[in-house]
Amino acid sequence: MAGSLKNTQKVRVLFVCLGNICRSPTAHGVFEAMVEKNGLSDRIEVDSAGTSGWHIGARSDPRSSEAAGRRGYDMSHIRARQVDSEDFSTFDYILAMDDQNLADLQALKPDDFNGCLDLFLSFSSDYAGQAVPDPYYGGEQGFEHVLDMVEDGSRGLLFRIQCQLESGQ
Ligand code: 4NP
Repeated sequence: MAGSLKNTQKVRVLFVCLGNICRSPTAHGVFEAMVEKNGLSDRIEVDSAGTSGWHIGARSDPRSSEAAGRRGYDMSHIRARQVDSEDFSTFDYILAMDDQNLADLQALKPDDFNGCLDLFLSFSSDYAGQAVPDPYYGGEQGFEHVLDMVEDGSRGLLFRIQCQLESGQ
């Protein structure tokens, strides 16, 4: 984020995958819950989107929302949308689930974007730098693994943003 962060300013985070019905809405729901639990809902805004437009307007895949629900996360308010170049004017962190999502976002990125565009798990300690694997064509275990990765990445991301908010940078 460029310049210093005023205490009225929000940090805006966008999670991106292919369909916006499995991985990125899981990150959206989990990170939003952590933000709320830490009393930071007025300082951090969370959203998610897909690089494809295949599922625009759809609820999250029930396999994702049910797995998240078993861990206490609510994804019922999330509807799929497609990422667009305007998102680079809105969001400070645009975080891709895998390398293909990241490459697609890099192709869309305007030259003047000065936020953070990276793999989401660059903020993870247990899965640092890995991709979140697409669970769509697999079994239930894949959705649990996504949640394990997303929870760890979210803790790291929240720590990073808390430091940013405290330092005003
Ligand atoms: P996501 O998973 O990118 O994590 O939302 C997928 C959802 C849908 C499809 C592929 C991946 N699809 O082929 O429709």
